[in-house]
Amino acid sequence: MLETSSVPSLAELHALNPLQQPTYADAGALDSVIGKLRTLPPLVFAGECDELRAKMASVAAGEAFLLQGGDCAETFEGVTAANIQGKLRTLLSMAVVLTYAAQVPIVKVGRMAGQYAKPRSSASETRDGVTLPAYRGDAVNGFDFNPTSREPDPQRLLGVYNASAATLNLTRAFVTGGFAHLRRVHSWNADFVLSSAAVQYQALAGEIDRALAFMAACGIDDDIFRTVDFYSSHEALVLEYEHALTRIDSRTSLPYGTSGHFLWIGERTRQLHGAHVELMRHVRNPLGVKLGPTTTADTALELADRLDPDHEPGRITFITRMGAGKVRDLLPEVVAKVTASGRQVAWVCDPMHGNTFEARNGYKTRAFADVVEELNGFFDVHEELGTWPGGVHVELTGDDVTECVGGSDDLVEADLVNRYETLCDPRLNRNQSLELAFLVAERLTSGRIKRAALAVERPLVPSTAP
Ligand code: PEP
Ligand code: CO
Repeated sequence: MLETSSVPSLAELHALNPLQQPTYADAGALDSVIGKLRTLPPLVFAGECDELRAKMASVAAGEAFLLQGGDCAETFEGVTAANIQGKLRTLLSMAVVLTYAAQVPIVKVGRMAGQYAKPRSSASETRDGVTLPAYRGDAVNGFDFNPTSREPDPQRLLGVYNASAATLNLTRAFVTGGFAHLRRVHSWNADFVLSSAAVQYQALAGEIDRALAFMAACGIDDDIFRTVDFYSSHEALVLEYEHALTRIDSRTSLPYGTSGHFLWIGERTRQLHGAHVELMRHVRNPLGVKLGPTTTADTALELADRLDPDHEPGRITFITRMGAGKVRDLLPEVVAKVTASGRQVAWVCDPMHGNTFEARNGYKTRAFADVVEELNGFFDVHEELGTWPGGVHVELTGDDVTECVGGSDDLVEADLVNRYETLCDPRLNRNQSLELAFLVAERLTSGRIKRAALAVERPLVPSTAP
């Protein structure tokens, strides 16, 4: 049974020696922030989390596809209308490409409205002989390299709550207030500098316009195209924050993480008996778990058993991030063994985190070709096994940044200096994101054709006709 009866206390979680946590100097200040957070309204509602879990169940069943994307690290400074609209527009455009070209329902989830805390490979950073705590995201400390800024400040957790609330508020307004109407599909990218992805996008938008005009002429009400469902997600990393926002739903008396709809456990904090798994196994949200190249099939199964003892549809999403050079070798055994156990989880590809490298000029970057290569490996593995490639998880922005090399604009390492704005990992820019959506759409379309051909060759119900 799911352990919903008693959410562990923060002291119990800390007794498990959680990794990647800030060390706060002032325990009293931290306690007062936690106390305040516990009184604030939930950011998301239990019913919405249930709705998303049901959608993730469709993904796991091969009937829908997940598009999850946004910044590596959101920042407080980045909470502006233009920034939120830019990311949303990019995600909605990608979703339209995927829906129209691949003809599958797309579940849309932002790495947005809560993605403020970052796990780090090193607890400190040294520059010119000076060593300070590493930047752990705006949830914890400041990016500026000085002792005051880098000191973990518990007040920032209230900042996360406020920034998430503002982002969610505008996002909800955008997706229900007309901005997301399919009739506006042209306008989302009207200001786009012409690139091959933009040309392809405008052609598709033209087709959608014609389809909508056709339906209108037939008397079909296009009101259902006015709004979209959009959900928030982030890595559940800082235990104080996630614990303070864990609430008991008055309707069902069950606990939910109300800091976001979909919460995931990162590659660095997914220890089977660690504090993050312990907290997350008690909440009812749909959960993600990142699986990197060291993951064995048994580890994946143990995590699934611990987080989802009841095999609840939509509960578990495995976000695999093996790396372009490893995915074909490592992923098959994990997927095959989990599937053979009778579990139906959602399999999602994060083609970003296994493909980061340092450019010669010192910038942390990713090559678009590697991202595509990992995605192709992911699709190939699932096609081979007959399992459903359930989605993509990407780091992207709505701006024309220069953080990842390659893509149709052919960004080279020397271009990174122009607009490198991320405070953490490099993101795909708008062009690269759209280009990726077209490539994924192509894979989904060819997969559909192959499956249809197989079904003709091997009908599920043998024909009885003579
Ligand atoms: C991330 O998603 O930004 C991240 C840190 O990923 P991972 O846990 O897979 O390394
Ligand atoms: Co990242």
